[in-house]
Amino acid sequence: MINNILCFLLCLLLLPSLSKSKYTSKQCSPKEKKALLQIRKELNNSDYLSTWTSNNDCCDFIDVNCDQTHHVTRLTLFGDQHSGRISPAIGDLNFLESIVLVNLPNVYGPIPPTIAKITKLEDLTISNTNVSGQIPDSLGRLPRLLTLDLTDNKLSGPIPASLSQLRKLLFLYLTGNQLTGPIPDSFGSFKQHPSLFLGRNQLTGKIPPSLAAFDISILDLSGNKLTGDASLLFTSNKTTQQTLYLSSNYLSFNLTKVDHFPPQLTTLDLSHNNIYGSLPNSLTTLDLVVFNVSYNRLCGKIPVGGKLQNFDSSSYNHNKCLCGSPLHSCK
Ligand SMILES: *[C@@H]1O[C@H](CO)[C@@H](O)[C@H](O)[C@H]1NC(C)=O
Ligand SMILES: *[C@@H]1O[C@H](CO)[C@@H](O)[C@H](O)[C@H]1NC(C)=O
Ligand SMILES: *[C@@H]1O[C@H](CO)[C@@H](O)[C@H](O)[C@H]1NC(C)=O
Ligand SMILES: *[C@@H]1O[C@H](CO)[C@@H](O)[C@H](O)[C@H]1NC(C)=O
Ligand SMILES: *[C@@H]1O[C@H](CO)[C@@H](O)[C@H](O)[C@H]1NC(C)=O
Repeated sequence: MINNILCFLLCLLLLPSLSKSKYTSKQCSPKEKKALLQIRKELNNSDYLSTWTSNNDCCDFIDVNCDQTHHVTRLTLFGDQHSGRISPAIGDLNFLESIVLVNLPNVYGPIPPTIAKITKLEDLTISNTNVSGQIPDSLGRLPRLLTLDLTDNKLSGPIPASLSQLRKLLFLYLTGNQLTGPIPDSFGSFKQHPSLFLGRNQLTGKIPPSLAAFDISILDLSGNKLTGDASLLFTSNKTTQQTLYLSSNYLSFNLTKVDHFPPQLTTLDLSHNNIYGSLPNSLTTLDLVVFNVSYNRLCGKIPVGGKLQNFDSSSYNHNKCLCGSPLHSCK
């Protein structure tokens, strides 16, 4: 009897601590909490992140999401209240699937190469920030990455050839940085043929021949300093190519010699280059929605037919001697 009462009392005493320890095991891992607290510290302890304290479960931190196993899977930060750097401690959040850091004008410094430790990462977006320095080579080691979006930052230096090792990548956005050097030759060997957005940088050199065999749906190389022949992109055996933005470069080739275009091509912007020759008749076979060859050195009659007369003169202006509808008639 005494024993029973004792047990009862003991159980009453033990129960809360038992359930407490069960509860504790459901809290986020100390390693992940530590990493998040370090991230907050390097973002100048922003007041906005006031829920990010050692007393709270890090799954309850604002702008942090966990899965059922209580691991941090998403980190989403935006706004000018954050100032400082992206801590290398972010690499200790091993369970992250998504990092979205956007519209952070007061966040600067490099992209931590430690991000490459997050092997579950599917979406890495760092966009519209003051983040600078080179794109770390190590990002090419993220085996599950589907989207790499580094649009509109202050990144410089070359595009790492290693990015072509991202086997699952579907979208690569590097638009609006200060990237220099050539488009890596390795980009012809991407596994999934991701859409490539490399516009508004300072890329130089020729379009690598490896891209000729690359069946890609969107390729944006506009606003760079690329030279040479782009006609290698117009191979007719491409079945998915729909969109080509090549405007505002120094591309120079004879367009007369292009007798086939990818049959699915709907957007072709070649404006502001040094393209010469004439417009080939095969352009009339395309179901074009966007077409612009203005500001080149083209000559001769605009072929009649297809969609070519659907565009106004601004698609054809400022060439050497183009003529015919929608421009003035040929003499
Ligand atoms: C961090 O915050 C302090 C105090 O609010 C401020 O003086 C300092 O300029 C901030 N540092 C950065 C890098 O924004
Ligand atoms: C961010 O970049 C802008 C434009 O280059 C600059 O004016 C501003 O001072 C930068 N801010 C920080 C915190 O570095
Ligand atoms: C398409 O043609 C190019 C150039 O002739 C060739 O290099 C490439 O392998 C071809 N691609 C396919 C998918 O057949
Ligand atoms: C462009 O190529 C065509 C066809 O090969 C040729 O007749 C023409 O002279 C070339 N134009 C220039 C400017 O080289
Ligand atoms: C063609 O490009 C020129 C130069 O960028 C631009 O001014 C014009 O509006 C464009 N026309 C169309 C129809 O897109």
